[in-house]
Amino acid sequence: MRVILFGGAGYIGAHVALEFLKRGDEIGIFDNLSTGLRENVPGEAKFYKGDILNKEEVAKALSDGWDIAIHLAAFKAAGESMMSPEKYAENNIAGSLNIITGCLKSGCNYFVLSSSAAVYGEPKYIPIDEEHPKDPENYYGFTKLEIERNLEWFSKLKGLRYASLRYFNAAGYDTDGKMTGLEKNPANLLPIIMETAMGMREKIVIFGDDYPTPDGTCIRDYVHVTDLARAHVMASDYIREHDENLIVNLGSENGISVLEMVETAKKITGRNFKSEIGERRKGDPAKLVASSKKAYEKLGWKAEKSDIKTLLESTYKVYLKNEKK
Ligand code: UFG
Repeated sequence: MRVILFGGAGYIGAHVALEFLKRGDEIGIFDNLSTGLRENVPGEAKFYKGDILNKEEVAKALSDGWDIAIHLAAFKAAGESMMSPEKYAENNIAGSLNIITGCLKSGCNYFVLSSSAAVYGEPKYIPIDEEHPKDPENYYGFTKLEIERNLEWFSKLKGLRYASLRYFNAAGYDTDGKMTGLEKNPANLLPIIMETAMGMREKIVIFGDDYPTPDGTCIRDYVHVTDLARAHVMASDYIREHDENLIVNLGSENGISVLEMVETAKKITGRNFKSEIGERRKGDPAKLVASSKKAYEKLGWKAEKSDIKTLLESTYKVYLKNEKK
């Protein structure tokens, strides 16, 4: 199969590219390297440095003839999307439309979207399944929902076949050590914990300990990036073989609290870094846990590497490697 990955030099994209390569698919990577890294692009991949806002650059890459497009080129900081919605409207919505329309023009009729649990907003019930009401709490989640809706329309009107993968909290690194590029300016819990453990930050602030959870800190469903990556390969095969669309949650179905993550990280790294309780962060639901039943029923997918130990150990290893560079 010939697979082009938009945003394939980013943290998740690079892990997805690795999974396609492992089974011998041909891959192309399109990335503007604004957050992605050139070192994440494997030698076997054809690399296109380009921007999804530039229709000509998108068309040129697609003119090489691809069976399926995987779209991971989006901004993903929920907090920032509330301050700079224009940036998210332009890149995430307009950029996605450029890719979708470019695909249709070039005859690439299969599409996999990197979507998010952020489409659901404040949970009405747990675990969250795909039927849960879609009511995004932040503009970032709204952009993902808009892209999903466009995919539905383009599917109805133009026969595009798509999979939308709604990730919960992506974390961890390739356990074989093939991926060593660190995210620039990370905003998520695990990289912030690691930066603190490595002494790059003075302390980590736990955002609130008065939530209605057993230890008072927020609970999230962390899913290992290699588990996510495997799901892209499975979903790509699924939509091609069944000629039907697919929308699935990808989560571990297991909740981990912020405090548990911080304390376990201290044990695993053996570094007693400073952590303190701070104010709640705006827009944080107390608890998010996925139901991934549908992904299992449709794809046979289940998280396999998303336990707290593998998540933290695989991330720590990459930080250690970078420290020694
Ligand atoms: N947290 C802290 N301190 C920090 C950073 C995070 O306490 O310095 C806490 C947050 O308050 C939250 C948890 O750690 O309770 C996880 O926070 P992240 O920022 O890592 O992730 P979010 O749950 O806010 O959001 C992530 C992705 C979204 C995605 C969502 C889906 O960033 O894009 O998961 O569940 F939509």
